[in-house]
Amino acid sequence: MSHLPHPPAGRIILALDTPQVTEALTWLDEIPQAVAWKVGLELFIANGPAILTALKERGKQVFLDLKLHDIPNTVAGACRVAARYGVDWLTLHATAGRPALSAAVEACQASAAQAGLHPPTLLGITVLTSLTAQDLQQDLQVARTPADYALHLGRLARDCGLGGLVCSAQEVQQLRLTLGSDLTYVCPGIRPQRTPGDDQQRTVTPQAAVAAGADYLVIGRPILQAPDPAQAFAQLCQSLTGSLEGEP
Ligand code: C5P
Repeated sequence: MSHLPHPPAGRIILALDTPQVTEALTWLDEIPQAVAWKVGLELFIANGPAILTALKERGKQVFLDLKLHDIPNTVAGACRVAARYGVDWLTLHATAGRPALSAAVEACQASAAQAGLHPPTLLGITVLTSLTAQDLQQDLQVARTPADYALHLGRLARDCGLGGLVCSAQEVQQLRLTLGSDLTYVCPGIRPQRTPGDDQQRTVTPQAAVAAGADYLVIGRPILQAPDPAQAFAQLCQSLTGSLEGEP
């Protein structure tokens, strides 16, 4: 069951995974319907905060995906600056721990208030969708399933006051059932049928992700590396229409 009465395009956050501003802005022009645009490490490191300003000047919602993971003072400093750019979403790893998560919440609120802006919704990264159960258990020595660990981290993030979670759609139903619908659930690792999984492991189709309770889908390569990105986006929205029928 899905929870927001959004038309399909209002669910989709497109990942601007390129170092080139010109390419990013071309995608923006080609697919103006996406609800938000994700600036990740590659685009941000290549261009700095100018890319945030460029997106905000075009009236876009900005999802700043820097996946912060550091000591509380450093995380808080980064959050303070990000909030001043008016970003709408900001990600940090829940594994940064309680003091860093709490410091991030406080910093975003204080800095946005000072700038007269809305604070970004802080999203806690649970377990990366590129990790398998085996990666978690053998390499990272986490003796839990991805679902259990995501739930544990999701609860920590919620208790620290974060506004949402980034999780695999394989786990979103259990997270929503256990942690409630006040949190926003954002799911990457989305792969339409018959598209390559790339480095993603815990993948789910767009329809199944929405059916499982994802509020937003983060999608990059299946759309933006398609021969015709606008057409791939339209097809994806079309494929979601049936899943959203009957919603309020
Ligand atoms: O190309 P693809 O659809 O796999 O892109 C997914 C995007 O979502 C990437 O930009 C990646 O950084 C991001 N992401 C992710 N897994 C997370 C959090 C973010 O794949 N747990």
